[in-house]
Amino acid sequence: MVEVRLFRPGDGPAVVDVIERCLRELNSRDYPAEIIDRMCTHFSVERIEQLADERQMFVAVRDEIAGTVSRDGNKVFTMFVHPRVIGHGVGRRLMHHIEALAAGEGYDYMETGASITGHGFYQRLGYVDLRTSETEFGLNHILRKPLR
Ligand SMILES: CC(C)(COP(=O)(O)OP(=O)(O)OC[C@H]1O[C@@H](n2cnc3c(N)ncnc32)[C@H](O)[C@@H]1OP(=O)(O)O)[C@@H](O)C(=O)NCCC(=O)NCCS
Repeated sequence: MVEVRLFRPGDGPAVVDVIERCLRELNSRDYPAEIIDRMCTHFSVERIEQLADERQMFVAVRDEIAGTVSRDGNKVFTMFVHPRVIGHGVGRRLMHHIEALAAGEGYDYMETGASITGHGFYQRLGYVDLRTSETEFGLNHILRKPLR
């Protein structure tokens, strides 16, 4: 069973652990070590707590925190699932949660910036490529999914 709930004070270290494990074990296949190191430094506990103030941040809990995603309206950010539990529907569950919230607020579409590593995941969930963009953390795919 996976519960999706809002980020709470005290979740920061567990969320950072999920993100760092993803970056080092999954994203490192697609990005150079220098970018991975920079991203690990960027996603500190302080930064995650700040982002949780600025956006709506969620965690997926399966005994412990197994994944996270955040949204600002219909924009998706920081989607990560612990490598130990990938392939068990945690990512889909998190995305459906925030898509339902955005649809309920009247948004027509959801938009995400996907890493090379996460690109196929979003396509599998019905997201369609719009363009690519170069960010400070390398190539990103921008995709959208209609919500109605
Ligand atoms: C990408 C990621 C979020 C997927 O999470 P997950 O919990 O493993 O995904 P799910 O199990 O919910 O998968 C949903 C579907 O997408 C498919 N899928 C998952 N990752 C995929 C990928 N990288 N490429 C293609 N398909 C993928 C699954 O096979 C599943 O398909 P199904 O409909 O046949 O069941 C996770 O692997 C991750 O955190 N990766 C590293 C960080 C990252 O790149 N984040 C993404 C955006 S920045």
